[in-house]
Amino acid sequence: MLVAALIFLSALLAQDWALTPDLPSQLTEKELSQGKELYSANCQRCHGADGDDASQEGITPLGGLSLRLGDPRNRNFGGPSFRARGRIYSPVEAKALMGYILTLRGEKGFSRPEALVSPCLLSRKQTRRTYLVIDLRPEADFRAAHVGGAANLPPKALAKLAHPAMGRDLSNRIVILYDEGSGLQASKVWRALVQSGHRTVAVLDGGFERWVAEDRDITSAVSATLPSVLLIDSPDTANAAQPPAERVPLPELDYDWQKTVTDNGLRPASELTGYLRSIGFKGAGRYRLRRGSKAADLLAFELHLLGYAVLSSRNQEIVIR
Ligand code: HEC
Repeated sequence: MLVAALIFLSALLAQDWALTPDLPSQLTEKELSQGKELYSANCQRCHGADGDDASQEGITPLGGLSLRLGDPRNRNFGGPSFRARGRIYSPVEAKALMGYILTLRGEKGFSRPEALVSPCLLSRKQTRRTYLVIDLRPEADFRAAHVGGAANLPPKALAKLAHPAMGRDLSNRIVILYDEGSGLQASKVWRALVQSGHRTVAVLDGGFERWVAEDRDITSAVSATLPSVLLIDSPDTANAAQPPAERVPLPELDYDWQKTVTDNGLRPASELTGYLRSIGFKGAGRYRLRRGSKAADLLAFELHLLGYAVLSSRNQEIVIR
């Protein structure tokens, strides 16, 4: 009895860490390399080197797991120790392993893989109540067919998004956004949600077109409605008078969003970086978008995936950190 109590107590004390997206930054190099060893020895054969073995359908991708830490299933891995596939991980091992897993970059190699959800991953998660899947296509398209469980937020409603109100109401939902495939609409709403303080939001890679091309389940039955807070009218700031832009010559980005999207969703990190460099991107700074700001939110989203932050984009200017 006493021994059991002591073991329990020491297990509690040993958990001086929490399963948060910041976990890797709390670990030493040594702990991370221990985590890597544990991963290669015990997990990699199923989950793949980057945590996203796309060749093995049915294996839930681990890249981007930080988005899903609130998923009850993943709490099993939240320590202090856990049992997985016939082996027990001590608190120290569990911390190192989970910390390492949260550094995995996923199938496409992004620094922030959690913001991009593959069709494979969504198909395993779409029915969970923590998920709120939002279809951003026109209502008629939505009514014809959509991802099961999705709610519709048609383009004409986007202008009415109530930015500050959204974050609060969605706080415990993982929001997955998709449009027909370009990512133009999805990145717009992604940005509005992130700016309103909602962190658990991701875009379905390749949108509805890729979902259908991969022969995933679709339905015409409408089973979900949007939380009404998403549709509250808000003052339209887009047409508010802007102060005249300073006339400083800025480096130009000749950004053509179509070059960043393929039938298989966004281009992987290395190709995307190559493309951005080829059009004049030299890292953080202030740029002018030569082709206008129509696709500025998609660019902001892609830069986010690559680890940058877009501080602002207005008119044709974009400020990147
Ligand atoms: C034999 C193959 C195999 C091995 C080895 C394996 N896994 Fe998995 N893992 C799976 C499969 C299959 C799923 C999906 C199960 C499901 O969704 O029902 C999964 C799911 C998961 C999930 C849930 C992800 C999510 O968001 O739902 C986590 C976390 C996880 N594994 C961690 C690990 C860790 C850590 C190890 C190594 C200690 C490991 N796995 C070893 C096959 C494996």
